[in-house]
Amino acid sequence: MIPLLTFAFLGLAGLTQAHIAAWHKGMYCLNGTIPGFDNQNTNDAVNPLFNLPKSQWWMHHNNKCDEFPPAPGDFLELPAGGTFTVEFAGNRGQTTLSFDGKFTSEWPDGHDHPENFSMPHNGCITSPNLHTTNQSDAAGTVFAISYTSDLAEVTPENLAVFTVLYHTPWKRIATYEVPADLPPCPPDGCIAVFGWVPNGCGIPNMYMHPYRSKVTGSKSNKTVAPAKPPTWCEGTPSTCTKGSKQMVFWNQADGNNIVTSGWQADGAPKSPGYNMKLGFQNGAQNDIFL
Ligand SMILES: *[C@@H]1O[C@H](CO)[C@@H](O)[C@H](O)[C@H]1NC(C)=O
Ligand SMILES: *[C@@H]1O[C@H](CO)[C@@H](O)[C@H](O)[C@H]1NC(C)=O
Ligand SMILES: *[C@@H]1O[C@H](CO)[C@@H](O)[C@H](O)[C@H]1NC(C)=O
Ligand SMILES: *[C@@H]1O[C@H](CO)[C@@H](O)[C@H](O)[C@H]1NC(C)=O
Repeated sequence: MIPLLTFAFLGLAGLTQAHIAAWHKGMYCLNGTIPGFDNQNTNDAVNPLFNLPKSQWWMHHNNKCDEFPPAPGDFLELPAGGTFTVEFAGNRGQTTLSFDGKFTSEWPDGHDHPENFSMPHNGCITSPNLHTTNQSDAAGTVFAISYTSDLAEVTPENLAVFTVLYHTPWKRIATYEVPADLPPCPPDGCIAVFGWVPNGCGIPNMYMHPYRSKVTGSKSNKTVAPAKPPTWCEGTPSTCTKGSKQMVFWNQADGNNIVTSGWQADGAPKSPGYNMKLGFQNGAQNDIFL
């Protein structure tokens, strides 16, 4: 009954509320998906992915985001051993990338909320649509990297999760760690990809969005190992997939790399997020190299 209830209640919210993207000038479809039009209020990147064929969900092709690369020279820069920052918001208008940032707040919806933001009776927060009841229950988000400059050459196996940020999305500003050993990219850059699988609180969808990126300040000659699918290992860390892991591809019509049934430890339907339920440690993933 829990899944039915959350489905019915937040299914509606899903249609009427924005969701969340990680905004940065290096992202695809920053200007929206109308050729030649700079949409300051776009939310094309925000739409979640649910029950779609891989031809549609992969790299957010369902609304052609993957056909609108960033402007030449705009990269998500990843300083080896350092950090990088993106902005969570439901609409570009609520980030510093539109209107000189005048509609931003500390939160992804441009409004003010208490530090301990939550709804009564462990209800779900729907504005911003964070798909969570509170900060500690936020599922975690990631960036993955593929050492190709050509979006069409990215595969699940050459796209490895390199950083995890627990308890996000939450506030607008989000800062991720970069492994010190991440090697430099080819001259035209790498492809980085944002991912999130919310822990319930709405349609059990996933988020996948591409960026052009560059690793800076790296002298590493290491190679990222081929990425393996993560596996459900809640409560038994010894059974987790170790080392270089793929992003979570879940609840789609095809192309899934994890299928779940039953219940997780907290009694909710299993939700394979970027956290220890799948063996993702917080922070830089320093164990992904050959
Ligand atoms: C987005 O719009 C801005 C302003 O018109 C423009 O400078 C930039 O090149 C556009 N980006 C892309 C990828 O078309
Ligand atoms: C949140 O913090 C405020 C101020 O400390 C407090 O008054 C309020 O009861 C807290 N709310 C919850 C839901 O914990
Ligand atoms: C956060 O939400 C979870 C799930 O609803 C609940 O179990 C937990 O008590 C909440 N934590 C706080 C600090 O309110
Ligand atoms: C990588 O760098 C280390 C330390 O500089 C060096 O010992 C090693 O031979 C290098 N490996 C390759 C494959 O170039």
